[in-house]
Amino acid sequence: MMKKELIAMMALLALTTGNICQAQTVVPQACEQSIITPKADGRFLWLPIEESAPEGKVLVIADGIMQMEQNVRMAREEVDYYVMLDLQPFKDRGGLRVCVQNVPTGSICFSKLTQNSDADFALRDEKFRPLYHQTPKRGWMNDPNGMFYKDGVWHLYYQYNPYGSMWGNMHWAHASTTDLIHWKDEGVALAPDVWGTMFSGSCVVDGGTVVAMYTASRPTPFGGDVQAQCIAFSRDGGRTFAKYDGNPVLTAEEKDFRDPNPFWNEDIGMWNMILAAGQEMRIYSSRDLKEWKYESSFGKEYGNHGGVWECPDLFKLEGKDGKGSKWVLVCNINPGGPFGGSATQYFVGSFDGHQFVCESMPKVTKWMDYGKDHYATVSFYNAPEKRRVVLAWMSNWQYANQVPTKQFRSANSIPRDLGLFRYGEETYVSVVPSKEMLAARGAKVKNPTEACEIVVDTKGQTEIVLSNAKGEQVTMVYNATAQTFSMDRTQSGEVGFSEAFPATTIAPTYGQIRQLRLFIDRCSIEAFDAEGKMAMTNLVFPSEPYNTIKVKGGKATIYEIK
Ligand code: FRU
Repeated sequence: MMKKELIAMMALLALTTGNICQAQTVVPQACEQSIITPKADGRFLWLPIEESAPEGKVLVIADGIMQMEQNVRMAREEVDYYVMLDLQPFKDRGGLRVCVQNVPTGSICFSKLTQNSDADFALRDEKFRPLYHQTPKRGWMNDPNGMFYKDGVWHLYYQYNPYGSMWGNMHWAHASTTDLIHWKDEGVALAPDVWGTMFSGSCVVDGGTVVAMYTASRPTPFGGDVQAQCIAFSRDGGRTFAKYDGNPVLTAEEKDFRDPNPFWNEDIGMWNMILAAGQEMRIYSSRDLKEWKYESSFGKEYGNHGGVWECPDLFKLEGKDGKGSKWVLVCNINPGGPFGGSATQYFVGSFDGHQFVCESMPKVTKWMDYGKDHYATVSFYNAPEKRRVVLAWMSNWQYANQVPTKQFRSANSIPRDLGLFRYGEETYVSVVPSKEMLAARGAKVKNPTEACEIVVDTKGQTEIVLSNAKGEQVTMVYNATAQTFSMDRTQSGEVGFSEAFPATTIAPTYGQIRQLRLFIDRCSIEAFDAEGKMAMTNLVFPSEPYNTIKVKGGKATIYEIK
């Protein structure tokens, strides 16, 4: 289908199905249920949620036009938590109404709806809320998106559902930091529009302008989704974006065609962009980020194909001492990970602006992290000192919607710096905690705490057991003979919410390990070989923090994290 025809079809769908709307769609015939007329003094309307309830619809209508429509699990019998509907953007509009559809009359949500101006309304501390990892205050988060560095600030956007702690209603929310540890919540940056909900994508910095390129995904009445690539511009450093009125800039007929990642390629003096299409990656080039020329595809016969390829990245990494640079193609895959579900594989090779050539044999698969909770890894654009800093979403699609948190779901990993190392005949990507994690070290303590770093110096075979008074424990073993590191979370605490959760993960260490660094933050353990040859990220849900450590064959030093 030609781009023009596709655009016409999508526009027609937007009007006829009235599914995801922004100031385009006429008001539905009847506002079925309980119409709420917002009060003048209450900026926020708090929607009561029950996670086991089916999705209803919440519509905002003003000036006789539907302003937005979201799928919301409005509470029927019990309220699990509240989500915020911010009425500020509509306050000067005439005839503002909020209307609820597909929720039975008599449901508890109608008596519990609350309107006030308190942004912290009903916000509870949760025992699994991380203390030093980026996480949304409320709502659902998946992939990190559009990360870039500019004028001393690191920016992160992420896949976000403001209207529930399960996946849906995808927006881009924004957070920023100057030290890669303490994050400031910057609110929603991109909301759904007629082209669909806001799926993953990336940002580039082009002079004073930040350009976001993302996928708009929209279900069709005939089944399946249409996924189209769009761009948006920010002239205030990434705080607000104006969507390009020529969107979408790239379309295709494939079902899975998404997660664009553009970058300036100084070798050819042009923009390149990589995106995921089914089980391969497509590479494009452009002079203006608007018109894209297809260059080549990579991956059909390479690496792991146990699932859909998603969230790509492509960048050059310098070898040690600035020698022997290589291109690395990052490919997140779901399912198909080494221990089931989601994981990040990568390929090392060369790229001339047109084609990526993998230097390994097709059957070789390389994983960036050998835990179960490391997905959608992408890097910051424009990082200083030629650094390649990445974040991963710390979850797994096997159980991401079921993990035992409530008002929020998911956190991103600690920042990690990538490099290259050689082992045997292959070049691998090294992963180390970013140097900012050293600055986050606080006082030395005797016992593990809910937010700490444990450094274990090892001379060989080592066993580390973290436990609490409830007998919950995580066992880690560095097997110097087999050259492996493993983590057993089968008895780590709450594990029954998904059959796929209890597991022992195991990683090759590519030679000997001298020092391990373990980062604990309430519900996560990230383990690294200090030299970067092994990384493993796993979630854990102990009923109380692990406060005891036993180490055989090594010596542990524990630091609080500030
Ligand atoms: C990966 C992913 C992306 C998609 C996004 C939707 O986790 O499936 O491919 O853009 O999540 O939220």
